[in-house]
Amino acid sequence: MPSSIKNETVGIGILGAGNISELCVRGYVDDQRCKVVAICDTDIDKAKSKALRWGVETIYSDIDDFLNDERIDAVEILTPTYLHHDHVIKVSEAKKHISCQKPIANTVTDGREMVKAAESADIIFRINECFYHYPPLEKAKHHIQKGHIGTPQQVRVHTLVGQTDSKFQAMLEAEGYTWRLNQNSPGGHIFDDIVHKIAVSQWLVDQKIVNLSSTLRRKHTFFEPFVALLEYENRDLIGMLDSTYAENMWLNSSYYGADEFIEIIGDEGFIWVTRCTGEMLNLAPLVLYDGKNNKKHFEHFNQVDSDWGTGFKRSASYFIDSITNKKDLSISPMMTPDDAINVLQICFAIYKSAQTGTKVDPRTIDDFVISPGGYP
Ligand SMILES: NC(=O)c1ccc[n+]([C@@H]2O[C@H](COP(=O)([O-])OP(=O)(O)OC[C@H]3O[C@@H](n4cnc5c(N)ncnc54)[C@H](O)[C@@H]3O)[C@@H](O)[C@H]2O)c1
Repeated sequence: MPSSIKNETVGIGILGAGNISELCVRGYVDDQRCKVVAICDTDIDKAKSKALRWGVETIYSDIDDFLNDERIDAVEILTPTYLHHDHVIKVSEAKKHISCQKPIANTVTDGREMVKAAESADIIFRINECFYHYPPLEKAKHHIQKGHIGTPQQVRVHTLVGQTDSKFQAMLEAEGYTWRLNQNSPGGHIFDDIVHKIAVSQWLVDQKIVNLSSTLRRKHTFFEPFVALLEYENRDLIGMLDSTYAENMWLNSSYYGADEFIEIIGDEGFIWVTRCTGEMLNLAPLVLYDGKNNKKHFEHFNQVDSDWGTGFKRSASYFIDSITNKKDLSISPMMTPDDAINVLQICFAIYKSAQTGTKVDPRTIDDFVISPGGYP
């Protein structure tokens, strides 16, 4: 059981006020059940400007001072990935609940140490996986679980990366990309972004990937166009995960210059999620085809909220739910750290398979694998 909070209102502390904080913090600011009481960033100017924008009274540049603030019950960790390990351990020792950004850590070993620290501190520790809370994906999972496409036979999760002129992308600070492009990161785009899609390719069908083979071509320093063929626990289910980098292609998006398409095919129908960050197709965000008993019925879910920012807001709300209702993470829709470690193993299995030309069982990866071609 997690430790209890001191007041009726959950005190939230934000650790790291960089690029993604804009999407992650809004849900807490707008939620009456909690209050963002402090922001900590080693770059005090960033902390200051975000504090002004969100109406937060206290800022820190030192994590120890921040963690000594007794009003903080829970911390949203938004620091660079290579710092997640040390920060989760410190916050656990301070006995504050933790929501930490993906990927969980740079290595599987680090991830396992983080889980142990949180368990011995008896706190809630979840990974903030915004894809789990994006309404079209949540609704897709619901229909798959209800058997509306029959038994899943194939999973296809496709990502296209290009350019965009969105206001959001223009606001991102280049500095936020330095640690992604040096030895602080074992991988590039797969480690940084495709981990979301790996998570989705298991979570939507409630099935673990037990083997995969991949082909990958490094482009520039960061992008890793690839195709991975997936084998699941249920041998009748197979899948494909891929991404393409089209550097001269401009995409419609209100957020990142990326577009996703997700298709789950069952033995009686199929379901499509036609967008996540991008807005490319003139189709409903969610489409369900029921082909059972010659029904041949298409349902177009035009009304489902497909704003990419909504997933972040809902994710904040679930974290507050888990603290106030002391919900068991294993039955809640949030990403557990064990799931996040498994996702990391799959990311490294993609790198390993591309390097060795053999099939890899992700569960055999105990530490880390660097992207083919070396550090980004
Ligand atoms: N869910 C998503 O879609 C999504 C998108 C982007 C980033 N992320 C994740 O969020 C995390 C942060 O990414 P970002 O793009 O915001 O990076 P960023 O570099 O823009 O922001 C990190 C912030 O942490 C601060 N910081 C660094 N060291 C610190 C320390 N020791 N103590 C306090 N603050 C410190 C930096 O000054 C910076 O403001 C990463 O783990 C990344 O993978 C998730």
